[in-house]
Amino acid sequence: MDKKSPIQVSVNFAPWQIEEMSLNDKTVVVIDVLRASTTIAMALQNGAKEIIPVSNIESAVKISSSLYGDVTLRGGERNGKMIEGFNLGNSPAEYVREAVDGKSIIFLTTNGSAAMVKGRYAKNLLIAGFVNLTSVVDMLVRLESDFTLICAGQDNKFCIEDAVCAGKIIAAFEHATKMEVLPDDSALAAMALEKSVGKAVLKMLRQSAHGKFLTEIGLGDDLKTCAAVDSIPVLPLLSGNVIRASKENPKL
Ligand code: MLT
Repeated sequence: MDKKSPIQVSVNFAPWQIEEMSLNDKTVVVIDVLRASTTIAMALQNGAKEIIPVSNIESAVKISSSLYGDVTLRGGERNGKMIEGFNLGNSPAEYVREAVDGKSIIFLTTNGSAAMVKGRYAKNLLIAGFVNLTSVVDMLVRLESDFTLICAGQDNKFCIEDAVCAGKIIAAFEHATKMEVLPDDSALAAMALEKSVGKAVLKMLRQSAHGKFLTEIGLGDDLKTCAAVDSIPVLPLLSGNVIRASKENPKL
């Protein structure tokens, strides 16, 4: 019987350093725990048809004008707050069924949506947070291919919550797969961090810089939503420029 090659797992803590075309043909997971990944999972769970991530306001306006008004919403944030002229902010609590069912949502956030746009040439692009961790890991196990985890970070800097989530995904993947796993040094660092602070996710979010900021501006309840491991078992996949909940396997 053929012995399969080990699965190479890499982590990138700095998405701005990534050369977009280098992701071509790769399986990529974008993580933005606070809060873009969590909000996208919530929107899709509550019936949103699709999320269209954009990296700047000009793209949001341009895409809005080409879509039908009554089925399209604009969601996202700048400095944690809803952008003027948008319908929704970036709080998962806003993305209830009454607001998002059947809607296309143009989505602009400071770090998360930009990292997703950056990954658009990937063969498979999955969106992960703590809330859908097992759904993501199950798909990675089925894909049986090397993968890269991109941590969206915060203002071009490392952030602990995305790194801990990356570590948890790799640990769960190692546990679930029968294949040999070869983590790069960044992946090893993420796993070490997860071992150290990953058991108390909410506490870690409350200690994180962005968690403290969200709490200060009155959005502390979002941390509880973002910390709830496997509470929103959807698998958001980007295909073309659009994120939808997966019903089928991506490109195996
Ligand atoms: C981001 O993309 O930077 C975040 O999702 C920020 C936030 O709204 O908490």
